[in-house]
Amino acid sequence: MELLTNYHIPVLAEEVKNCLLQERHSGTFFDGTVGFGGHAEVLLSGLDEKAIYTGTDVDDTAFKYSTEKFLNESRFRGYQYNFTKINAVANIEGIEGYDGIIADLGVSSFQLDDASAGFTFREDAPLDMRMQKTLSKTAADIVNKYKEEELSHIFFTYGEERASRKISKFIVEQRERKAFATTGDLLEIIRKVAPVPYINKTAQRVFQALRIAVNDELENLKIFLDRAIPLLNRGGRIAVISFHSLEDRIVKDVFKYEEKSCVCAPGIPICVCGKVQRLKVITKKPVTASGAELKINRRSRSAKLRVAERI
Ligand SMILES: C[S@@+](CC[C@H](N)C(=O)[O-])C[C@H]1O[C@@H](n2cnc3c(N)ncnc32)[C@H](O)[C@@H]1O
Repeated sequence: MELLTNYHIPVLAEEVKNCLLQERHSGTFFDGTVGFGGHAEVLLSGLDEKAIYTGTDVDDTAFKYSTEKFLNESRFRGYQYNFTKINAVANIEGIEGYDGIIADLGVSSFQLDDASAGFTFREDAPLDMRMQKTLSKTAADIVNKYKEEELSHIFFTYGEERASRKISKFIVEQRERKAFATTGDLLEIIRKVAPVPYINKTAQRVFQALRIAVNDELENLKIFLDRAIPLLNRGGRIAVISFHSLEDRIVKDVFKYEEKSCVCAPGIPICVCGKVQRLKVITKKPVTASGAELKINRRSRSAKLRVAERI
């Protein structure tokens, strides 16, 4: 696992540490996306011996790596779970509430570079894209079995791809001749549809859309936020790093909603909605990487950090 040490340069690490821990040196923490343990390591360095740091990751390699990395770290408790299982982890650990929760969304650089996972169009590999190999459908299943309109919806909604209809039409025509098996098969279709200067950008959007669909990423994020916020102790903070606008919009909207103390229609004289404010948003605008970080970590280019505090 030594070769993998480059993969844990955590994005916006100091910003996460400052916002999440503030003056805190102990408490209970949940890291939904432990990955290679980069954020975990930084946060643990600011915590005392009594702190408990629980974490989840669905990926085999990342889970094995972080388990090995924190083998002698008694404060760390790792679970190969989806982060939507935050309640299960809290129950197992006997944790009633968390002082800090973090999620650093999406896939790691390792997963992207691991050609065999099929996340990247830059290498020919099976069209898989499952972060967790127990998931039932692969990207190839979607491309080969979904109706043309469903494919178009995925490319448009999750990839914000304007040529979604044309791409889906080409896919459906092609699969009648031969089923899609590899990332290269899909790239061939994109090459037919997109003008040469836009091939890479189009491929990026189509691959992102399929990855989101295969792993149910947006739905999982909503479920996670829904379960995580009530689990925060008063004064506890939640930090989410996202890498594309669809995720960021979900985090922003949920935080905004949870900051409201009333959602009654305008003009109603007395509040009847019963809404309770649960969060105070700490980052009015998302935090982005500094010039120095941008130079050393390409992945930080699109990172947006939003933080909120339980009141
Ligand atoms: C960007 S990496 C996290 C990197 C980590 N913060 C670090 O510093 O090493 C994202 C990780 O989240 C995992 N992941 C993505 N969605 C997940 C989910 N719903 N539940 C659990 N893990 C998830 C991926 O497998 C990946 O390892």
